[in-house]
Amino acid sequence: MESNFLVVFPFPLMLLTIITIFFSLTSSQPIDSKSDQDALLAFKRSIKNGALSNNWLTNTSICDWTGVSCGSKHGRVTSLNLTGFGLEGNLTPHLGNLTFLQSLDVSSNSLTGVLPAELSKLQRLQEINAASNNLSGEIPRSIFTNMSVLVEIDVSNNKLSGGLPGDMCSNTPKLRRLILRENQIYGNIPMSIDKCREMEELSLSTNRFNGNIPIGIGNLSMLTLLSMYENHLQGNIPSSIFNISSLESMYLFSNRLSGNIPSKLNNLPNLRELYLYENNLEGTFNNFEPSTLSIF
Ligand SMILES: *[C@@H]1O[C@H](CO)[C@@H](O)[C@H](O)[C@H]1NC(C)=O
Ligand SMILES: *[C@@H]1O[C@H](CO)[C@@H](O)[C@H](O)[C@H]1NC(C)=O
Ligand SMILES: *[C@@H]1O[C@H](CO)[C@@H](O)[C@H](O)[C@H]1NC(C)=O
Ligand SMILES: *[C@@H]1O[C@H](CO)[C@@H](O)[C@H](O)[C@H]1NC(C)=O
Ligand SMILES: *[C@@H]1O[C@H](CO)[C@@H](O)[C@H](O)[C@H]1NC(C)=O
Ligand SMILES: *[C@@H]1O[C@H](CO)[C@@H](O)[C@H](O)[C@H]1NC(C)=O
Ligand SMILES: *[C@@H]1O[C@H](CO)[C@@H](O)[C@H](O)[C@H]1NC(C)=O
Repeated sequence: MESNFLVVFPFPLMLLTIITIFFSLTSSQPIDSKSDQDALLAFKRSIKNGALSNNWLTNTSICDWTGVSCGSKHGRVTSLNLTGFGLEGNLTPHLGNLTFLQSLDVSSNSLTGVLPAELSKLQRLQEINAASNNLSGEIPRSIFTNMSVLVEIDVSNNKLSGGLPGDMCSNTPKLRRLILRENQIYGNIPMSIDKCREMEELSLSTNRFNGNIPIGIGNLSMLTLLSMYENHLQGNIPSSIFNISSLESMYLFSNRLSGNIPSKLNNLPNLRELYLYENNLEGTFNNFEPSTLSIF
């Protein structure tokens, strides 16, 4: 057998075959899922209170690790869900090496430090949920400008500060839920926010936003929730907002908004809650349409 093989495949060709096999082995899945494992182990090391110490052991496949899900074909990590795991520590930049990650949920832990900019390397990431932690610093600009399939960002109830980039939404056309509630984010709401045309829930409440509400928000025709209460917003409520027929809830209370509010809300058939108190607005509604609407 063996000598026949050698006759059919002369030595140089056989060497080439071996080299080819060697390279195809080293560049395929085992090595790539090794880099997923390295990234997860780096995250485990960055959790200081041992919340993962009895999990994520290297004698089992990463795809069997608690909170980890893999794609069935390639065995790469596609989702990480560690909500409510009692994690104390940081979000390591190594998470940016989980190339196939689509969903990251680390909400309701006690994570500190920053949201690493490396997350924006994840070009398949659709959902980032880091709500209810103690994260601080700015939300990296690249998260708002470089993640073309992102659908949801929820970083509510943290200690994030800084401003939003002036060109946000320029390359995140699929963003539907932007939940920044209860942080310390300041500055203007960027005009470019109207480029997130599929936005459904926009919650910027309990922050330090100032300036005017951008007129372009009236062009977000899929919006169901518009929440900007407890900020320092001023100027008029752009009248185009009262034309977003999909709107169900609008919370603008506790700002410095002024000007007149329209007396009829005929173009808001789905609106159920409208909170405008603690502003300097003028006018009264004389036509409650629909009658189920609550105005405060
Ligand atoms: C993996 O190792 C741990 C201890 O290090 C042991 O308790 C566990 O049973 C092992 N699991 C498997 C599947 O071998
Ligand atoms: C994570 O798991 C919890 C239940 O443990 C679930 O409610 C939540 O929706 C999951 N997150 C994602 C992004 O699927
Ligand atoms: C993973 O990411 C870290 C930090 O971003 C980097 O230093 C490291 O070289 C990466 N490792 C691999 C295996 O790609
Ligand atoms: C955040 O830190 C404060 C102390 O600075 C602490 O009281 C609070 O419980 C922490 N929150 C979480 C979710 O860890
Ligand atoms: C932006 O995305 C590209 C891939 O589309 C990636 O190579 C690059 O590292 C990302 N830039 C940042 C700053 O994350
Ligand atoms: C927003 O809508 C108005 C009409 O209501 C239109 O004139 C304007 O061009 C739209 N803006 C964008 C950026 O599409
Ligand atoms: C609101 O819509 C009505 C028609 O439904 C239109 O006449 C009006 O110009 C719109 N107003 C704004 C501010 O977009």
